[in-house]
Amino acid sequence: MWNIRAVPALRGLALLILSCLLTLPAHAQDQTLAATPPMGWNSWNHFACKVSDAVVRASADAIVSNGMKDAGYVYVNIDDCWQGQRDAKGMIHANSKFPDMKALADYVHSKGLKLGIYSSPGPKTCAGYAGSYKPEEQDATQYAAWDIDYLKYDWCSASRVYKPEEMTAVYKKMHDALAKTGRPIVYSLCQYGLRAVWRWGASVGGNLWRTTDDITDNYQSMYFNASSEDGIWKYAGPGHWNDPDMLEVGNGHMSHDEYVTHMSLWCILAAPLLAGNDLSKTSPDDLAILTNSEVIAVDQDSKGIQGHWVSREGPYEILAKPLSDGSTAVLLMNRGEDAQRMTLNLKDIGVFKPAGVRDLWAKTDLGKSTGTFSAEVPKHGAVLVKVH
Ligand code: GLA
Repeated sequence: MWNIRAVPALRGLALLILSCLLTLPAHAQDQTLAATPPMGWNSWNHFACKVSDAVVRASADAIVSNGMKDAGYVYVNIDDCWQGQRDAKGMIHANSKFPDMKALADYVHSKGLKLGIYSSPGPKTCAGYAGSYKPEEQDATQYAAWDIDYLKYDWCSASRVYKPEEMTAVYKKMHDALAKTGRPIVYSLCQYGLRAVWRWGASVGGNLWRTTDDITDNYQSMYFNASSEDGIWKYAGPGHWNDPDMLEVGNGHMSHDEYVTHMSLWCILAAPLLAGNDLSKTSPDDLAILTNSEVIAVDQDSKGIQGHWVSREGPYEILAKPLSDGSTAVLLMNRGEDAQRMTLNLKDIGVFKPAGVRDLWAKTDLGKSTGTFSAEVPKHGAVLVKVH
């Protein structure tokens, strides 16, 4: 056995390693949190205030049994409406729909998944439940004691007690409280893009931040949220992501091609993928949209570059996302009311030689293209390819 006290060279090495560890920035641990856009499910879009322990358990069961876990979905996130009363010491407790939050976390963890929760920096959440205004540290302590892995922190009534310019400090306060617990908890900022949050979200410890108001299950809302990310791609990267809101796939009010566009856009924008439907009733078609491995690989690419618009010609839009293997994902999107043949100029994505093209939804190679690549894109539909 080596004795590092007795061997000066080893002692020097040990000291060097120790000093490197001590000089790492405080947020170094956060770098591995949300290294790729978080994937999971959130209760709000489908269940709103009807969320319960049973719904969360059933969602965790479904993620495991329907293939979503294998596709990368991990977080099972309770949104608003779980909160009950504070006790005499000010500790927050869940309401009667969640009889034992720690037991629920244990259950979700036993499935190899993680549990998320929701609060507000204001006195009340958006649905009128208890917020974290003032007992921020106590709430963070409670979440850690329950083994929570993710917090969505929603501005809501905070506008009643804080000035707009206090927003960054308010968000940092909860980050510091979470960090103090020592538990890695993904920190999701939700304040609808106010005050250009993408410019400061990472500096207050945010792993993701909403860039718009709430999505609804229709094509116009979905497209509006995605297009609001034009120009802000450079603020996203490993550990800190722009969030155009949760998915609506499977909630029933968009067509197949519109949901394909929704998923394609979220993936090319490196957006968090939080399914928002009733997972116990997902149709095979919606499940195929949520779990296509080659499409998800675009979202989860380790380089973490958010895609950006290459061209916009009326309703015909092209986006590109450089990937870690040197290839580029390209989305051809048709917002028009008729099918349209769309053409990508390969030079627009920096490709000047003949290049292979693969259709990611169909998982099919389309052969080599030189100069341009064209595809028929259905009305409100999208074609997602990889150019390599
Ligand atoms: C806000 C958020 C939504 C959801 C609700 C809950 O509207 O933007 O995502 O969390 O609050 O009340």
